[in-house]
Amino acid sequence: MSEVWHSVCARDEVQAGAMLPIEIGDMHIAVYNVDDEYFATDNICTHGFALLTDGFLDGDSVECALHGGCFNIRTGKALCEPVDVDLRTFRTRLVDDRVEVCIDGA
Ligand code: FES
Repeated sequence: MSEVWHSVCARDEVQAGAMLPIEIGDMHIAVYNVDDEYFATDNICTHGFALLTDGFLDGDSVECALHGGCFNIRTGKALCEPVDVDLRTFRTRLVDDRVEVCIDGA
């Protein structure tokens, strides 16, 4: 399977404790900064159409603003009702102070 790294934002566009919505093609992806570690997941909740970046980031958990479902952003694991389907996660890396996200099979 091929993998493609996409440069998505400058490192300082996502401060510690913050998240940023980005789009790669027609994919909606959320980039998170947890204590200067960067993570990326699908940005659309698995329960309904809501952007997780409109919700709340608490440590390494994101809470959906629509119905309060929570996910671990490191693993994508669904943590609490009403969500029961995990989020897709993506690898990230820093290159020259830019955040890159890896999309498999792109
Ligand atoms: Fe996210 Fe319902 S749409 S918890």
